[in-house]
Amino acid sequence: MRVQVAIIGSGPAGLLLGQLLHLAGIDAVIVEQRSKEYVLGRIRAGVLEQCMVDMMERAQIAGRLRAEGLVHEGIEILFGGERHRIDLQGLSGKHVTVYGQTEVTRDLMDARAAAGAKSVYEADNVTVHGFDGKRPVVRYRKEGAAHEIECDFIAGCDGFHGVCRPSVPQSAITEHERVYAFGWLGVLADVPPVSEELIYVSHERGFALCSMRSRTRSRYYIQCELDDKVENWPDQLFWAELARRLDDRARSRLVTGPSLEKSIAPLRSYVAEPMRFGRLLLAGDAAHIVPPTGAKGLNLAASDVHYLSNALIEYYRSGKTSALDAYSGQCLRRVWQAVRFSWWMTNLLHLFPENGSFGRKIQCAEFDYLMNSRAAGTSLAENYVGLPY
Ligand code: APR
Ligand code: PHB
Repeated sequence: MRVQVAIIGSGPAGLLLGQLLHLAGIDAVIVEQRSKEYVLGRIRAGVLEQCMVDMMERAQIAGRLRAEGLVHEGIEILFGGERHRIDLQGLSGKHVTVYGQTEVTRDLMDARAAAGAKSVYEADNVTVHGFDGKRPVVRYRKEGAAHEIECDFIAGCDGFHGVCRPSVPQSAITEHERVYAFGWLGVLADVPPVSEELIYVSHERGFALCSMRSRTRSRYYIQCELDDKVENWPDQLFWAELARRLDDRARSRLVTGPSLEKSIAPLRSYVAEPMRFGRLLLAGDAAHIVPPTGAKGLNLAASDVHYLSNALIEYYRSGKTSALDAYSGQCLRRVWQAVRFSWWMTNLLHLFPENGSFGRKIQCAEFDYLMNSRAAGTSLAENYVGLPY
């Protein structure tokens, strides 16, 4: 096969890039190691920045998002028993939209299928070659047979555990990482949310988050030990622990029910620099990971794709490489802003026993400042709704 762009990975980054390139008349294939059903079965975050919603409009896949997405003009923080609302709309002039990543993925897959664009699912042993020269190649096996794709560019959209980043010589890449000593235990359930808006909770027993996917489906998280197992958390125990971390108002509105999904995710901040190696360009989780506290993972994947699609479109329209040359620097600037914000929110809201009473006092002072300073609230709001592209 010969294409202009070979996209590795069919997560939101790969699919969104595929859609924008398709609309621009650029020939691309998506090569994914898993099945479509497996990709759609993964439960991930669900808060979209305004810029990402605008991108979905541009990608002509925003119909269902417009109809079903929930506009949220604020978030709540429950800190040591005290509630404080951050008026996102009032402080930043923007809102966020609650719409699950799974739904974004589904909309993009449907659009791709309708367009008849090329996709290979269940590709085994995907490898990438020759991206330091002019003729990169992607190889994979499917149903026992070997396949080869020749292309102009490889887009590495294959997530944190993908093959693209490890294919770059170690000496060409610099990694920056912070691993946190705890995880998030998440439960998805068909129960109405406790509140109209998300509640981020800092409690002496640990962090909790009340989120949602719709008016009838809730997503809850509690901070847990890194080596904890979901088997240790039968539904009843989860609901009881969540309830303990809420205030009376939320507790009285908490509706429990059987979990549809339950999983533990570790928290990590990670950035690999640069994001371009010759004709291999990384985007999304393949290049960076943020802890979920700021809801930035999906949104960062979208902003990378914004810069990458524009750069490739400029290249194919005019032959100019200036946007491709600027890609890594442009992405990383925004990435580091989101990494900083996610790290800051994680530090503010989680239990860090190793930081002792000093650490807790600093968190309390930070929250006090947030409650009483419009400038501090504005800073949170403008980062939460997303810095401009
Ligand atoms: N070959 C082909 N595909 C691969 C390979 C490989 N060797 N390794 C991984 N993949 C696929 C994965 O199966 C997955 O479908 O690449 C895809 C990467 O998708 P995501 O992990 O969703 O990453 P991304 O598209 O960058 O989206 C970022 O998703 O992971 C969340 O929290 C993250 O919300 C953020 C968003
Ligand atoms: C979610 O709904 O899964 C979610 C929402 C906000 C976050 C993280 C996850 O910060």
